[in-house]
Amino acid sequence: MHPMLNIAVKAARRAGQIINRASMDVGHLKVSVKQQSDFVTEVDRAAEAAIIDTLREAYPQHAILAEESGATAGSKGDSEYQWIIDPLDGTTNFIHGFPQYAVSIGLAHKGSMAQAVVYDPTRNELFTASKGGGAYLNDKRLRVSKRDKLAEALIGTGFPYRMFDHVDAYLAIFKEMTQKSAGMRRAGAAALDLAYVAAGRLDGFWEFGLSPWDMAAGSLLITEAGGLVGDLAGESDYLATGNVIAGNPKIFSQLLQLIGPHKTAQLAA
Ligand code: IPD
Ligand code: CA
Ligand code: CA
Repeated sequence: MHPMLNIAVKAARRAGQIINRASMDVGHLKVSVKQQSDFVTEVDRAAEAAIIDTLREAYPQHAILAEESGATAGSKGDSEYQWIIDPLDGTTNFIHGFPQYAVSIGLAHKGSMAQAVVYDPTRNELFTASKGGGAYLNDKRLRVSKRDKLAEALIGTGFPYRMFDHVDAYLAIFKEMTQKSAGMRRAGAAALDLAYVAAGRLDGFWEFGLSPWDMAAGSLLITEAGGLVGDLAGESDYLATGNVIAGNPKIFSQLLQLIGPHKTAQLAA
């Protein structure tokens, strides 16, 4: 395992321990509202602190972008490396004791993803990838699914829940997708949804308005498992735009064809 991935795994497991411990007593969690339908708990903050501690100890010179504490430069100023961290993806699920959430840690090198960990502490499932080295679930090599017909595909998504400027386009896509796919799932943790695409548990995924920490690690898992990830034009700008389409190559291009026109029409309106 690449030494940087090894450190990321250590950080993710530390965060996972904090999350698992806290999950035994979610009734007593202190929950704050960052903005409408955007919650944070002391667990998100403690998990993030543990991750940053672990990464900083090994790589003080690396920059960090983390959901709860924002962007910080490395000890030597401009770094070629940036860790992109979501300490607890799926906080709403976590608060409700709905066991679908994960720790997500990605490392970008000169702007492209180099290492990735998505860790589901409820099932002890560790998804990892290194650029050029493949994607793994625990010790098992991952490949995206082989399904090539949208009519047989299981598609993950995330509903709009905070920014509603995309809601009409989203619902039009939802309507068409209900009719054309085998089914849709909204599990509530985007990083894990992407990991599931890498593992072939979902054939595709789309969501609008995500943040870089939701997608950074998951996107490398998918490309290393033989899948594709793109923005609404099928290009690589998803980390910046927050709009993402992913899937095995056949389903990816069918999603792109179905979603692209709705979204482009809405943006032009
Ligand atoms: C959220 C989850 C959710 C997605 C949201 C994200 P958080 O992350 O990934 O599935 O629909 O857009 O913000 O806030 O639980 O880390
Ligand atoms: Ca998230
Ligand atoms: Ca989060």
